[in-house]
Amino acid sequence: MAEYAVAMRNITKQFPRVLANDDVTFLVRPGEIHALVGENGAGKSTLMNILYGLLRPTSGTIAIYDKPVDFQGPGDAIANGIGMVHQHFMLIPPLTVAENVILGQEPSHRGIVDVTHANKMVRDLSEQYGLKVDPTVKVETLTVGIEQRVEIIKVLYRKAEILILDEPTAVLTPQEVDELFEILRSLQRQGKTIIIITHKLQEVMAVSDMVTVMRRGKYVGNVATKDTSKEELANMMVGRQVLLQVERGQAKPGKEVFRAEGLHAVNNKRLPVLHDVSLSVRAGEILGLAGVEGNGQSELVEVLAGLRKAEKGRVYLDEQEITNLSPRVIKEHGMGHIPEDRHRRGLILDYSVAKNLILGLHHRIPFVKKVLGIEVMNFPQIHQTADKLVEEFDIRPPDRENLAGNLSGGNQQKVVVAREFNHNPRLLLAAQPTRGVDVGSIEFIHRRLIQARDEGKAVLLISADLEEILSLSDRIAVIYEGKIVGILSPKEATEERLGLMMTGGGQ
Ligand SMILES: Nc1ncnc2c1ncn2[C@@H]1O[C@H](COP(=O)(O)OP(=O)(O)O)[C@@H](O)[C@H]1O
Ligand SMILES: [Mg+2]
Repeated sequence: MAEYAVAMRNITKQFPRVLANDDVTFLVRPGEIHALVGENGAGKSTLMNILYGLLRPTSGTIAIYDKPVDFQGPGDAIANGIGMVHQHFMLIPPLTVAENVILGQEPSHRGIVDVTHANKMVRDLSEQYGLKVDPTVKVETLTVGIEQRVEIIKVLYRKAEILILDEPTAVLTPQEVDELFEILRSLQRQGKTIIIITHKLQEVMAVSDMVTVMRRGKYVGNVATKDTSKEELANMMVGRQVLLQVERGQAKPGKEVFRAEGLHAVNNKRLPVLHDVSLSVRAGEILGLAGVEGNGQSELVEVLAGLRKAEKGRVYLDEQEITNLSPRVIKEHGMGHIPEDRHRRGLILDYSVAKNLILGLHHRIPFVKKVLGIEVMNFPQIHQTADKLVEEFDIRPPDRENLAGNLSGGNQQKVVVAREFNHNPRLLLAAQPTRGVDVGSIEFIHRRLIQARDEGKAVLLISADLEEILSLSDRIAVIYEGKIVGILSPKEATEERLGLMMTGGGQ
């Protein structure tokens, strides 16, 4: 038997302006689940795109099952038993599952595509690996989690022995992640070799046998999962000590700052999504709202921030009613909002960091001043504020004139967080504040949320990440199908109990 299923040695990939892989060595033994981890931009996808023949290395060698190879394209990689499931799926929605799977490789009988045969092949693969996919349904009716399984079947249908999955859990709910891991184990039991890219350490610990860490294009190390810890991996990824567990003292809640009463709202299709939602948050307290995505939390945040109409119910901030006021007016009443979708709502990507940092206040003193009776932008003041925030929030690179679109996800999020904190809100609405953010920035944002709490602000944290909810919240509300199904103290809120409540399994 070959020593390595995959042996990539001294791989360098120079893009015109970026050295994406710098002398990287990556070794995977047959039959293992191997996690490739690193922060955003570390070079993971580049390395795997090279393995799949999508990119050619500038230098370095690759051997598959100890045999040297030189891929000219994905066709060569597939012929060598390699399959890849990309971050963004490439299925055709109006076609059925089986049609998608066989696309490009149709089994034909005298030139006619044999659909019955295709359905059977897909059904067999689905059963063999516990994928539970119906070959005859149209892809457009599937959830993201099932679409991903179709991609996996597609790869298996092409007889892959080595499967590469690029950040497969980024789009999944916690339940779907567990199911995916079951599938990966089943693939492993039947002899497949699996490479999974992720930057979530709990997933690495849960599913992998071996881990390779990359940082800034370079290979950092390779360890057996059982011999390492999340802390050690985080340190390897970031290159310094990282505190995964935020340190926080006891909350000292003051008076009630925020209250929502009996909110009802409808979604974009005019269907009810919120049913009689009531919540309150006190000064100096973090209320966590836990829930599987798609249970109304996005709409709730929009209602609170003035971006969606409340059909019924009221919202109060510091005892003033703010129901259905405009986002700008709500902001002026003292609400800060870290939005779920920072690209659509949080930032203007082709504005500079400085302009993004004053967005929403750019029309006000001190950022405008009167010159001969005319209002003009007060650039010295804008620059001074921007430089202060760039430093305080450790935004990298530390250049206020850089366009927001050029920053990494973590640094973009720091810009949003810095701006919202700088408004000195009474209530901070933090929606999925660390989604897609690297480990170092997660630590930073978590510390800032605790600090805001300790300064007496009320924080409403909405997150689909149970670990995040559990490590930050002073009380935990659970939302399921648009209803608050319970509010627990941290003591009562075990992961099992929350998981059960989040999926409608009662209190
Ligand atoms: N096709 C490309 N052209 C130029 N630069 C690229 C290209 N693909 C990736 N990069 C750059 O290479 C670096 C590594 O990217 P990537 O491999 O996608 O990292 P990761 O998957 O670890 O987040 C980043 O700085 C990225 O901007
Ligand atoms: Mg990537």
